Amino acid sequence: MRTVLVALAAITAIAIIPDVAQADAYEIKEGKLERPTGYREWVYVGTPVTPNDMNDGKAAFPEHHNVYIDPKSWKHWKKTGEFREGTILIKELVSVGSKAAVSGNGYFQGEFIGLEATIKSKKHFPDEPGNWGYYSFSTPDHKKLTPTATAFPTESCNSCHAAAAADDFVFTQYYPVLRGGKATGKDAVGGTSDSLTAGK
Ligand code: HEC
Repeated sequence: MRTVLVALAAITAIAIIPDVAQADAYEIKEGKLERPTGYREWVYVGTPVTPNDMNDGKAAFPEHHNVYIDPKSWKHWKKTGEFREGTILIKELVSVGSKAAVSGNGYFQGEFIGLEATIKSKKHFPDEPGNWGYYSFSTPDHKKLTPTATAFPTESCNSCHAAAAADDFVFTQYYPVLRGGKATGKDAVGGTSDSLTAGK
């Protein structure tokens, strides 16, 4: 009996593992995206900065934007140079905490103030250009996050990405880590050559 149970447990474990490996890093239920968690453990690709003080006191997406990609899609990107069905990119907004440090004058990160996401999914966005959907969890006062979000209409977000982003609606021109890893088939480890070309 005991052997049977152990064998059954082993078979169940084997049956479950492929499901976990296949899972996307987000969940959309009845049209609403659950706020993703764990993204600070993903792959960090860059930090564009649109400080309020250079944008009439109110940048559209305030201040620093730390951008992450889910690990499974990063792997696929390195292999193929494409964003896979199920890619999610997160942009976590961070205030300018100070403008001077012992290193000099600049923009230094302060507190977390918002969270945006974009997902490529033919299943969920069959009619969106590039199959990308865009979400925001930031409250208007940037003090809290909402637990779920609904996708924006195409003209609110997608059309701007369509007009100006370098690679499949994603602003890879501002993410040297993505450029460095694109379709190389290798880990984008950094520091392995004397070249300072993106990520080499
Ligand atoms: C005025 C043009 C513009 C509009 C409108 C816009 N974006 Fe973006 N978005 C950008 C630019 C430029 C970047 C990269 C640089 C940056 O973060 O400032 C970016 C980056 C992003 C990223 C990081 C991944 C990527 O695609 O590069 C996410 C997520 C994102 N935007 C979400 C949104 C959401 C959600 C909306 C709609 C509420 C939206 N964007 C509307 C210009 C825009």
